[in-house]
Amino acid sequence: MVAKQATVLLGVSGGIAVYKAVELLRLFQRAGMDVRVIMTQKATEFVGPMTFQTLSGFQVRLDNDGGLRQDSTITHIEEGNLADIMVIAPATANTLGKMAQGIADNLLTTTYMAFSNTVVVAPAMNTNMWAHPAMQRNMDVLRADGVYVVEPGTGELACGVYGSGRMAEPDSILAAVKLRLQVDRKTDLRGLRVLITAGGTREPIDSVRYIGNRSSGKMGYALARAAHDRGASVELVKANIDLPRAPGVRETDAPTADEMYRTVMDRLPDYDILIMAAAVADYKLDRNPQDGKISKSRDDLNVCLQPTTDILLQASTIKRHDQYVVGFAAEYGPEAVARARGKMERKRLDMIVFNDIARRDIGFSSDYNEVTILTPVGETRVERAPKETIAEIILDNIARGIKQKRTAS
Ligand code: CTP
Repeated sequence: MVAKQATVLLGVSGGIAVYKAVELLRLFQRAGMDVRVIMTQKATEFVGPMTFQTLSGFQVRLDNDGGLRQDSTITHIEEGNLADIMVIAPATANTLGKMAQGIADNLLTTTYMAFSNTVVVAPAMNTNMWAHPAMQRNMDVLRADGVYVVEPGTGELACGVYGSGRMAEPDSILAAVKLRLQVDRKTDLRGLRVLITAGGTREPIDSVRYIGNRSSGKMGYALARAAHDRGASVELVKANIDLPRAPGVRETDAPTADEMYRTVMDRLPDYDILIMAAAVADYKLDRNPQDGKISKSRDDLNVCLQPTTDILLQASTIKRHDQYVVGFAAEYGPEAVARARGKMERKRLDMIVFNDIARRDIGFSSDYNEVTILTPVGETRVERAPKETIAEIILDNIARGIKQKRTAS
């Protein structure tokens, strides 16, 4: 349930997707939220402020308000104080760029800088602009600043090109906002310490080559960020992740299976929950990797591998009664769920999160996932959703699980 009477501050910047912001406003209202609107000058050239004003029932704030209202309150601070969440949709390249760089030269950007609650942005622009390194750098900065991004979709853009950059559909933006409003009120992990591994380990063959896997670390990263938002103290043990820092999360690099093993064993006693989301290599070279580079020859090259230590199994062996250990199982084919359950039992886990690697539209590198959460006593199937949503549902189950476990013992 969304908190009643939530007030959304809808920032509208100028792009063709402004017409979709009208629909978004209606969706917010239908979900029981009040909506206040700020428009940039450019936005008003696409849809007039009167449309937003009539539908929202509140005066639309514009740059030429002069910042000072008749009752002498300062607009950009006043508007921010009223709202539980600020949603900028569409967010143009220009507005996002200014937000990332701390430039406050209009009412929307000054309000953003004065706003201390959650901010969600829905970027909308041409494919090349979205893909531009400057744009992606700015997005990394915004994510690191704690801004939530509803990723643009792929489809036909106003310029006639097919590609990524189209503003997410209003119902996806609504879902993201509802999630944030709920989550911002959830503090069920407060006081708990959570250790999360993420990414894929790389096992060196020589100084330049390695055996690796395709894990992007997005799932573990989403879990770390969500656990922190829910009040936990979080450490992320990262293997080769190329993602911006998660605000408030302690990070430690562990690029190989051995380093991850040592780090997890060292940290585990200090944590209540371990979530092994990393794709840890099952094998490594059976000897020290060669210094320098193995040179090419016409002969076959034989590389002999030996098993790595199973970190989860070791963690389960040494864990205390009150600690909660979660594994992931990437499986495919028939009996996949049963195999995941078997893995949970063999490794004596409190929970295993199964995902089907036969599916191309979810999992590795994707922003989406679809999982089944298994515990010794039950099974919860979670339909395809953004990894942020999946992370919240996994944490709902963990929060319940650790509470039950501690009450029972
Ligand atoms: N894992 C681990 N240490 C390893 C390998 C894997 O802790 N050396 C963890 C992963 O982080 C994941 C879980 O084990 O949470 C499942 O890993 P997976 O590779 O799918 O399973 P295996 O352990 O290899 O099991 P099996 O070989 O039986 O499929």
